[in-house]
Amino acid sequence: MTNYRAFYVQDNGDGTFQQSIAQRNIDDLPQHDLLIKVHYSSLNFKDAMSAHGNKAVTREFPHQGGIDAAGVVEHSGSDDFKPGDEVIVTGYDLGMNTAGGLGQYIRVPASWALHCPAGLSPQHSMRFGTAGLTAQLCINKLEQMGVTPDQGPVLVTGATGGVGSIALTLLANAGYEVVASSGKAEQADFLKALGASDVIDRSELSEPNKRPMLKERFAGAVDVVGGDTLANVIKSLKAGGSVSCCGLVQSPVFDASVLPFILRGVNLLGVDSVEIPLSVKQAAWEQLAHCAELASIVQLNTEIALEQVPEALGKLFNGELSGHTTVNVSA
Ligand SMILES: NC(=O)c1ccc[n+]([C@@H]2O[C@H](COP(=O)([O-])OP(=O)(O)OC[C@H]3O[C@@H](n4cnc5c(N)ncnc54)[C@H](OP(=O)(O)O)[C@@H]3O)[C@@H](O)[C@H]2O)c1
Repeated sequence: MTNYRAFYVQDNGDGTFQQSIAQRNIDDLPQHDLLIKVHYSSLNFKDAMSAHGNKAVTREFPHQGGIDAAGVVEHSGSDDFKPGDEVIVTGYDLGMNTAGGLGQYIRVPASWALHCPAGLSPQHSMRFGTAGLTAQLCINKLEQMGVTPDQGPVLVTGATGGVGSIALTLLANAGYEVVASSGKAEQADFLKALGASDVIDRSELSEPNKRPMLKERFAGAVDVVGGDTLANVIKSLKAGGSVSCCGLVQSPVFDASVLPFILRGVNLLGVDSVEIPLSVKQAAWEQLAHCAELASIVQLNTEIALEQVPEALGKLFNGELSGHTTVNVSA
């Protein structure tokens, strides 16, 4: 019987949810191939949705949260892994309805886990987490559609958030001129330090606009916001431009016409980091491994302990955090 500590959410039964750091036991974990000792996790908007009782993310409580985990295999029932291997697990059902990486132990199917790429320790991998994986996938889709740095500015919405700040950093590092859209005017210097050439207020794009097309401004975009923002981004793409759509912090619903698609040939690209094949995740993690030591990646990350998770998730839920938060689960 091994006890461990975990971020734990309980349903109070009155529409409210109790978050705490609780003692758990590995015998209570689901029966899967890999027992992993988690060293690091990171915080995502989806973790905040789960912790606030969003049933589209987590149906059953009590629940051990955390959609990201990186650590070391302690027991393996799979030929692909042996005790001592350093692994990353993100997405699939981790932290949704399967006990997640904000606990010191998880047990998951081997088909969810990948070996840490060379040069990317568990700690370094969680400087990216699902946010970084998603940012990389968004950029890959833009580039698959032919977006290149010489075509003009690329927009990143929700730029101070986890996906946004990492996308901005990766794009700037790859030579793109990046325009950051943010609701936090006081974070303009932070965004410029990450590589933004210009910072615009999110209100420029977030209001409904009846015009079917707007001035051509962006060769590409990474959008985490959805809603009217996404509609306006589509209308503001240059001819042949593309937007990677991965988030819904403003709204999952948007109102659009076909005109930008049929008159400017723009592309709306859906990005999923959760259910895609492990081989696609592995390839993106190999790309991220080359950027783990970038000064701006280190700069945009804040490391916290498990005890600080409830407060930090509350701030993330309210859009008050800037950058990406890693969690030292073993501390
Ligand atoms: N498709 C996938 O696989 C995938 C993977 C990861 C995340 N996501 C989604 O991507 C989105 C961002 O995730 P995240 O973890 O980066 O979240 P996050 O760290 O909370 O960042 C979201 C950012 O969006 C901006 N924002 C917040 N509320 C807003 C509003 N009402 N209207 C406009 N902007 C608002 C804020 O940035 P500013 O203050 O700078 O504007 C905030 O920091 C979420 O919807 C998440 O579910 C999807």
